[in-house]
Amino acid sequence: MNLSLSDEHRMIRDMARSFAQKEIAPIAARCDETGEFPYQTVEKMGQQGFMGIEVPEAYGGVGMDTLSYVLAVEEISKVDASHGVIMSVNNSLFCYGLLHHGTEEQKQEYVTPVASGAVVGAYALTEPQSGSDAGNIRMTAVRSADGSHYVLNGTKSWVTSGPVARYIVVFAQTDSDASPRHRGVSEDTAATERAGFSQGKVEPKLGIRASATCEVHLEDYVCPVGSRLGAEGEGFKIAMGVLDAGRIGIAAQALGIAEAAYEASLQYARDREAFGQQIGQFQMIQQKLADMKCRIEASRLLVYQAALAKEEAKTTGRRYTLESSMAKLYASETAMWVATEAIQIHGGMGYSKELPVERYFRDAKVTEIYEGTSEIQRMVIARLETGLR
Ligand code: CAA
Repeated sequence: MNLSLSDEHRMIRDMARSFAQKEIAPIAARCDETGEFPYQTVEKMGQQGFMGIEVPEAYGGVGMDTLSYVLAVEEISKVDASHGVIMSVNNSLFCYGLLHHGTEEQKQEYVTPVASGAVVGAYALTEPQSGSDAGNIRMTAVRSADGSHYVLNGTKSWVTSGPVARYIVVFAQTDSDASPRHRGVSEDTAATERAGFSQGKVEPKLGIRASATCEVHLEDYVCPVGSRLGAEGEGFKIAMGVLDAGRIGIAAQALGIAEAAYEASLQYARDREAFGQQIGQFQMIQQKLADMKCRIEASRLLVYQAALAKEEAKTTGRRYTLESSMAKLYASETAMWVATEAIQIHGGMGYSKELPVERYFRDAKVTEIYEGTSEIQRMVIARLETGLR
């Protein structure tokens, strides 16, 4: 068992680190403040191969492995979690499902432009009434009499990158009488410039403010049957499989946020003096730093383990749901806890917008919520472990 990174992985990590420092660090605070989408740096991420890092070269990507993807999301999120989620959603929630379940034409049409970074992809599962209960989908996809297309109607919410995406995978009921209900769900890919598509309200968010999130309305949106992914009624299982991949990206994002908060705390513990000594000499600060470090390293092991399980699945086909949920749960709760302690260590300065620590705190929170809340991850893990429902 070898826990150290290979030379190639170290090279990818260093490349992502220097890209993030050079291109993203100078704009991160401003984008957080204004909530503006960072088009230019996202375009550069595309040029560097980050937007399709795991996608084969034949479909516009750079064909690296899952650990490379995780290392890049981690490094980018360490500087700015908004860029991290934009990259993660593009790679995992959009490209992954299409690569695994798409036809050759679908891969060429949708994956190639998105993986190359020419356009952005998004994933629309959640609806106003169905967040955690993802199978309770009300968007309908009614097949035309000649069988050539579906007509989609309904609303999706909390679509990450929705306001800027060219293509969005959407999940809709093709059989409203199906029992259980999730077996009537199918997946289509919608092009956002087509008639019947409209963007709803843009969400004003607590954190990851530079990543754009919105509602999406489909009204008599016509989708050729050839845009459906997999068989009719298989959409929910595809959605769940894609989330297994996506949750590893969010776990890597959380790991990056935690590391940023920890490194800022270490520096502050050395620089700040109180009662005539560096605050890092006080045992209560030392305890916080030691616990932060241990939780971060434990998260790292879970996140990299999940990456290796996903990589292995490419040849074995084995599901890595357990590894993915454990990594997401532990890394996101670690990010939130570490960011909270980082503010405490910084005292008043941690609460100030002069330093990025309060941004790490606001950005960390969403990792416990999106792509499945901590409660959902615990449910998934416990179901798999006990075999009970
Ligand atoms: N892979 C493949 N198939 C899976 C699966 C997986 N990981 N998990 C479940 N399935 C299959 C089951 O085998 C079952 O198949 P059958 O029809 O053959 O029985 C089917 O899917 C239904 O499974 P469950 O009975 O377990 O479904 P459930 O209704 O109990 O729900 C759940 C399970 C885990 C709670 C699921 O609803 C869930 O993950 N909820 C959270 C949704 C979520 O993460 N949403 C985030 C959306 S994206 C986002 O956050 C925004 C963004 O853009 C970043």
